[in-house]
This record gives sequence, structure tokens and C-alpha cells, in this order.
Amino acid sequence: MAFLANALARVKPSPTMAVTTKAGELKAAGRDVIGLGAGEPDFDTPEHVKDAAIRAIRDGRTKYTPVDGIPELKDAIVEKFSRENGLSYARSQISVGCGGKQVLYNALVATLNPGDEVIVPAPYWVSYPDMVLMCGGTPIIIEGSLENGFKITPDQLEAAITPRTKWLIFNSPSNPTGAGYCRAELKALTDVLMRHPHVWVMTDDMYEHIAYPPFEFATPAEVEPELISRTLTVNGVSKSYAMTGWRIGYAGGPEQLIRAMAKVQSQSTSNPCSISQWAAVAALTGPQDYIPFAREAFQRRRDLICSMLNQANGVSCPVPEGAFYVYPSIKGCIGRKAPSGKVIENDEDFVTELLEAEGVAVVHGAAFGLGPNFRASYATSDEILEEACTRIQRFCGNLA
Ligand SMILES: Cc1ncc(COP(=O)(O)O)c(C=O)c1O
Repeated sequence: MAFLANALARVKPSPTMAVTTKAGELKAAGRDVIGLGAGEPDFDTPEHVKDAAIRAIRDGRTKYTPVDGIPELKDAIVEKFSRENGLSYARSQISVGCGGKQVLYNALVATLNPGDEVIVPAPYWVSYPDMVLMCGGTPIIIEGSLENGFKITPDQLEAAITPRTKWLIFNSPSNPTGAGYCRAELKALTDVLMRHPHVWVMTDDMYEHIAYPPFEFATPAEVEPELISRTLTVNGVSKSYAMTGWRIGYAGGPEQLIRAMAKVQSQSTSNPCSISQWAAVAALTGPQDYIPFAREAFQRRRDLICSMLNQANGVSCPVPEGAFYVYPSIKGCIGRKAPSGKVIENDEDFVTELLEAEGVAVVHGAAFGLGPNFRASYATSDEILEEACTRIQRFCGNLA
């Protein structure tokens, strides 16, 4: 339609939509459907966080706030970066937005010119390439292979850098694979970046706290302190404190960039919800016992889902270091026939037939830039997970 912006034509509709719509249709028709598509913790927001929000409402903290965050929240974030990441930011180097997603988007709007390149390792979170495209940039995809635990190598990064490269978007632990870069692997990548001073790093640390021992989370500016002057360290409360609906994300970065991001936000959403900001202060400064509680539960479920999927015929499921997703390969199922008679030619066929035959909804790997795989979220109860895996085993066992 000629009325719509040209930039929109370059952006794909959400690829997870098809399977979600189909799952909804089957549910509406009375089918028993298990969804393993959710990208959010199934736990409730901690009580003291809810209490802080209720208090904020009662105290009348219900008006506009400074564009990129109240000083109390910025100070709590400064303290968090220092305490947990060894990063030293001033209050003026902190930006708060309506979710990590808006913070990432603000940064891209604030920095990209047409033709600027942004390196995005695949498998990637679906929004990165499309956000880059919406901002007029060019995503440069490099593939982290299954053999390398879905991680990119320093050589791949080196080869992808051109004079037009503006950013590397880095995400560890990753959505969709759960892959985490250990300190040494990360240092090998930051060594490459040190040789290319025009390249900045946008690190999406959203899954920092969902990282399973012995793996230890690390962030680029912590591993290579000299990079801090060209790093945007993005994080949020959505995954760490089961607060996806509250819409609070934040970043630390060079002041000039933070000011530019505030300018973008001032002309779009103004400020993040005042009440949610007070809730986020409580999350970051209050008791932290939700974090180990959730981590232990997710780790138990990771072990359960990996073990059960690895027993499914034709499926191979690497054990991820973090997040709450697995990204098994279904190479062994390609070319085989589903109960409907359809031959499975790719991962989209696999997820469609699995949903049809067994009522289990997962997302096909092509949506994340690397297949044939699928992404399953294990942010659901042990009982539901067990039932879903039993169905996947049955589906794979029945492939002819
Ligand atoms: C890798 C990654 N980054 C960012 C986000 C966005 O999080 P928020 O709820 O803070 O916008 C998500 C949510 O799914 C994610 O998986």
C-alpha cells in the first residue's frame, strides 16, 4: 500500500506469529495444546516489588517523570552495575526505557544512518535484524554453528567488520539458544574489537541472572575495561525479577549516546511508567532471593528437557549455559513422514506437524536465522514440560 512507509516493507512480520495463531485456533477448537513458546518466567513478581508499586500509587507517584528515569532508579542501576558487573557508571550515563526492547531501539534510532552495518550473530533474538532495518541500517548476520555451541568465533567477527560497521549486537546467555560466552571466549571477541576502534558493542545482558554454574556470566566492558567508552550495556528487570509486564529496561553507556537516546524517547513515549520505576527500585535494591530461587528451578527444568529431548528420535539437544530456552537440532527428522502424510522438509514443517499431531507449540529455527532447529521455552512447570517432551518423543518416534 503506497500510503505505508518504505522502511516497513523491509521488516518481516513476527515469525513466531504463525505458530502462535495456529496454536490459538486449535485451543479455541477444544484441542489440548501445550505452548512452549513463552519468552517470560512463569513465576510471579516478588511480593516486595508489588508492595513498592502499591505504595507508589498511594503516595501519588503517578505523574510524568524525567524522560529517561527517576534519579532514585538511576542510582539503583549505578549501584547494580557496580555490585554485579564491576562497571562504574555515573547517573548521567544511565538510561531507563519501557523495557530493554525500547532501550535497544532508542540506541539504534539514535545512531544509525542509511547503509550503516550492524553485526548480528545468529541464531538471534528475532527483533535485532528488524529493528536495524527499521532504522535504515543493514544487519550483517554471522552464524554461530551448532558445532561451536551456537557461538561465533573471533575469526568470523574479524571477517564481518567493514569500514561501515557501527555496532556488534551481543547477547549472552542468548535467546533463542541459551548459549553463554565464558570470560575467555568473550575476551577473544573483545580483542578483535580492540583492533577496530570504530565498532561499538550493544550488549544485551537480559538473561544475566539465568546462568547455570559452572558457567559464569560476564559482560564485554567488564572483560575489557577499555571498551567501556564504546559499549552500551543493556539490561532490565523483565527476566531477572519476573517483571515482563512492568516494562522497565535500562542501559549504561557514554553520556553523549545516553543523551541522544533520551532525545529519541522524549519524542516517543516520554518516560517509562512512574509506578513501574518505583517497583524496579525495589527489585534492584531489595531482597535478592528470587534470583537464586528462579535459577535453581530453571536449571532443574533445563536438565529435564535436555535429557528427554535427547531421547527423541532424530533430535539432538545441546545443553545451554543459561536463559530458559533450548534449541535442539532436528536434522535427523528431515525427509521423514509425519502422521498426516506430509514429508518434513524443514523446521517449519516440523513445528507445524508437531502442533497438528501432538498439540505442542514450539517455534521453528528459521525464525531465528539458523536451522533446522526449534526453540522451546522451559519457563513452565515440570509436569507440563514432562508431558510436552513425552509428546515430542512420541511424534518423533512415529515419523516414518
Ligand atoms: C534477548 C532479549 N532481549 C531483550 C528482550 C526484551 O526484554 P524487555 O521485556 O525488557 O523489553 C527480550 C525479551 O524477550 C529478549 O529475549
